[in-house]
Amino acid sequence: MTLIEAHGVGRTVELPDGRPLTILSSVDLTVSESDRVSIVGRSGSGKSTLLNLLGLLDAPTEGELAFLGHDVRRIGSGARDRLRGREVGFVFQQFNLLPGRTALENVQTPLLYSGGREFWRRERIAREMLERVGLGERLTTKPERLSGGEQQRVAIARALVRRPRLILADEPTGALDLETGAEVMALIESVAAETGAALVTITHDPAIAARSNRHLRLVSGRLQATDAAADASAPVGSLHPPATPDADADAEAIAIAEADADVEAVA
Ligand SMILES: Nc1ncnc2c1ncn2[C@@H]1O[C@H](COP(=O)(O)OP(=O)(O)OP(=O)(O)O)[C@@H](O)[C@H]1O
Ligand SMILES: [Mg+2]
Repeated sequence: MTLIEAHGVGRTVELPDGRPLTILSSVDLTVSESDRVSIVGRSGSGKSTLLNLLGLLDAPTEGELAFLGHDVRRIGSGARDRLRGREVGFVFQQFNLLPGRTALENVQTPLLYSGGREFWRRERIAREMLERVGLGERLTTKPERLSGGEQQRVAIARALVRRPRLILADEPTGALDLETGAEVMALIESVAAETGAALVTITHDPAIAARSNRHLRLVSGRLQATDAAADASAPVGSLHPPATPDADADAEAIAIAEADADVEAVA
């Protein structure tokens, strides 16, 4: 199933003095279920900007971007928020946990915005997810008393608690030592494998990039296939395999958006 189709996507912002700054241009990318994509590139090359587009936090200013068949420039911001809340899990370098709230409360947060059964069973679902990441004994501990690796595992549990179809990780191991980073990646990958989610990881670490099966590089806002890692033989054309029409996914996404329509969503 195709999750994301980007054709000629770009993002240009206006600087405070009114001049335009083009951060990304001409990005063509398809992300499908179970894909493992790594994105590398120098600081400032546009990696986080691209991830924010893929995760529906921002909209492109050029080109076409479809998420589960929805043209993200045409759906309203409410529908975009609901789609993101339901289908996207973000993991960041700085874990972004709510201070002063227990691990269990942090992981429950996304479920507060879900409807029906998930909402009413949120404590149990969150507890199971924390057990899944090996923190069943730390449910009532607050982030400030957890190690970096443990905090990242809480953040992973929170990102994955609604079983999103797309996991976006922005330097998820950047604040961790090598061994803990590898453990954290293995954990994200195993949860993604269980649910068939696609995983897109931004990293500066070649060892983390090598864990993916598609390797991309951003150079000054343009996306290239890279031959630096394991799939040296991948032709640039593989960036954009032929689209498979998927009416079921579309119908399902609309149903989800409608089911959640009475709930105010957040990022
Ligand atoms: N809203 C914005 N307004 C102005 N400039 C922006 C905005 N967002 C991003 N930029 C600029 O666009 C460029 C790309 O930013 P981005 O955060 O995507 O880089 P990155 O590749 O993630 O870098 P890093 O590896 O340091 O995280 C940077 O020069 C940044 O300053
Ligand atoms: Mg960044």
